[in-house]
Amino acid sequence: MATGLPSEYISAEQITARVKEMGQAVSDDHADATELTVVCVLNGAFIFTADLVRQITVPCRLEFIRASSYGLLRSSSGMVTLNHDLDLEARRVLLVEDIIDTGLTLSRILDELQRLRPASLKICTLLDKPSARKIPVEADYTGFTIPDLFVVGYGLDSAGLYRELPFIAIPDP
Ligand code: PRP
Repeated sequence: MATGLPSEYISAEQITARVKEMGQAVSDDHADATELTVVCVLNGAFIFTADLVRQITVPCRLEFIRASSYGLLRSSSGMVTLNHDLDLEARRVLLVEDIIDTGLTLSRILDELQRLRPASLKICTLLDKPSARKIPVEADYTGFTIPDLFVVGYGLDSAGLYRELPFIAIPDP
């Protein structure tokens, strides 16, 4: 029976455990760094980033970039606008995304960030949907690989709703 509520797909406990592991991996890989610039992709990655940085043992400098696809579609429109005031020259950088779907957003962000000449640039995503890819981009750290499903929660929205859910869910059709 349809309840109108999203049904849980990845639990809060699973997310917590995986985020801890990812924070450990990022910390290990940057153990020689004096600081790490963590760039959170708004809006969707704000909750993941907040939890992830609390599991990273290297001192973090938090920065933000806003990326948005036009429209309220359930998949990327391909037209991505970026807004930021980042200065990443010679910095060790970790880009944090909530999900890589077609790869269009990440590809556009990577082009932009590479122009800012960071010392290193790693990509971290909570979710990856490789079967939806239109541009071949890959993360260095992936929380969960999922099939081509539309998911919400833990920062991800459906027309602006459900970002506050503490778990990843599949919305009622
Ligand atoms: C979502 C998500 C990623 C992007 C992934 O952002 O946060 O940034 O789409 O899709 P892609 O790989 O097909 O480009 P969205 O543009 O919906 O904005 P939001 O983060 O504000 O929800």
